Amino acid sequence: MSKVLTLAELDVANRRVLLRVDFNVPMSGGRITDDNRIVAALPTIRALREQGCRVIIASHLGRPNGVVDPALSLEPAAARLAALIDDDVLFAHDIVGDDVEGMTKELIPGGVMMLENLRFHPGEKGGDEEFAKSLARLADVYVNDAFGAMHRAETSIAAVVSHFETAGAGLLVAKELEALGRCMQGAARPYVGILGGSKVSDKIAVIEALLSRVDALLIGGAMAYTFLKAKGQDVAASRVEADKLPLATRLIERCLEKGVALHLPIDHVMNTAIDSEAAPHTGVSFGPGQMGLDIGPETVRAYAGVIAAAKTVFWNGPMGVFENETYAAGTRGVAEAVAANTGAYTVIGGGDSAAAAAQFGLADKFSHVSTGGGASLELIEGKDLPGVKALRQKGR
Ligand code: 3PG
Repeated sequence: MSKVLTLAELDVANRRVLLRVDFNVPMSGGRITDDNRIVAALPTIRALREQGCRVIIASHLGRPNGVVDPALSLEPAAARLAALIDDDVLFAHDIVGDDVEGMTKELIPGGVMMLENLRFHPGEKGGDEEFAKSLARLADVYVNDAFGAMHRAETSIAAVVSHFETAGAGLLVAKELEALGRCMQGAARPYVGILGGSKVSDKIAVIEALLSRVDALLIGGAMAYTFLKAKGQDVAASRVEADKLPLATRLIERCLEKGVALHLPIDHVMNTAIDSEAAPHTGVSFGPGQMGLDIGPETVRAYAGVIAAAKTVFWNGPMGVFENETYAAGTRGVAEAVAANTGAYTVIGGGDSAAAAAQFGLADKFSHVSTGGGASLELIEGKDLPGVKALRQKGR
C-alpha cells in the first residue's frame, strides 16, 4: 500500500502551495476564543515559507452549508495568523475565480494569503469536480495539514487531490498520524483506554476497536451510567440510553472474553439537575431523583492507580460535566494522573478532553494532544479517513 508523502518528500520550493488547514476555531462575537488549531499549523506554514513557497491557505469554519454567512468569515482567522507570524496575510474575500487566481500569482516568495470559508461554496460538499478544478488552478502543489477535517469527504480534502501532480501531508497531519498510529499498533503495554462523554452510542466503534488492543478500559461521563444500569445497579435519574442497555451488556461480556479489565465508577458526584443550586452529594449510592454528574474521589483514586501502571494511554471524553467547576474534579483528577505518568506514551484524542486538558493547564504534559475530535476517533476505530486515502493515492 502506498504511503502518504510528507513535506520533506515533496518538491515545493518556490512553488504556489494550496495548504488545506483546519481553522475551524471557536469564536464568540467575531473573536477567536481558542487559537490552538491556528498555532498547530504554524510549523508547516513556516517550513513552506522558508522554502520560498507562496502559501495559499484554505479552511472551513462552522457549517454554513454552501451559503455565505458573514458571521463565519475566516477574516478574523487571517488576522490572527498575521499576528502569529508577524507578517502580512492577504485575505481573498472569495474562494475561487479569476481574481483569486490573480492574487496567487502576485504573491511574493514566502508570501501568505488566505481564502474565504470553503463551506460558503456549495461545491465544497461531496466532491464537486468543477469546484475541485477551480481550487487546483490556485496552486501547483497541494498540502493537507487539516487533521481535524481528514474524516470529511469534502472537495478540498479529497476530490481536489487528484487534480495535483504533487500532494502530501503537512507536519501536523504527519505528527497526528504518527501519534495515533502508536495507539493502534505496537502500543507498549500495559495499554489503558479512558473513555468518557455523554453517549455510549457515540463510542461503540471506538470501544470495540480498543477491546482488542488495551489491557484496561476506564469509563466515565454519562455513558458510564448505561453500563452500570446494564449491570443491574440503581442509577436513579442518571442519564441512561435505554435502547443501548443490551449493547452495554454485550460490551461488558466482550471485555471478559478478551481479558480487558473494565473499570466503571464506584462513587459519584450527584445532584438533581446540572443547574441545581443545591450542593452536590458525593457517595456510592443514589438518592431518589439524583443523577451522576461526575465520577467521585474513590473512582479517581482507583483510575489513577491503573493509569500509573500504564505504558500507553489513549483518552477521549470527559469524566463529568467539567465545564462546571462543581463537576470538574473527576476529569481534572484523571487528567492529572495521566500527566503524572511521564514514563508512558499519553495521547488525548481531541474534542472535549483536549479542551479539559487546556482548561486545567495540563495540555503540554501529554505526549500528544490531537487537534481532531471526530478524526482521531475514526482513526482509532480503524477507518480509512477520506483525506488520508486521497493523499495515499499520490504517495508511493
Ligand atoms: C472539527 O471541528 O471537528 C472539524 O473541523 C470538522 O468540522 P465538522 O464536524 O463541521 O465537519
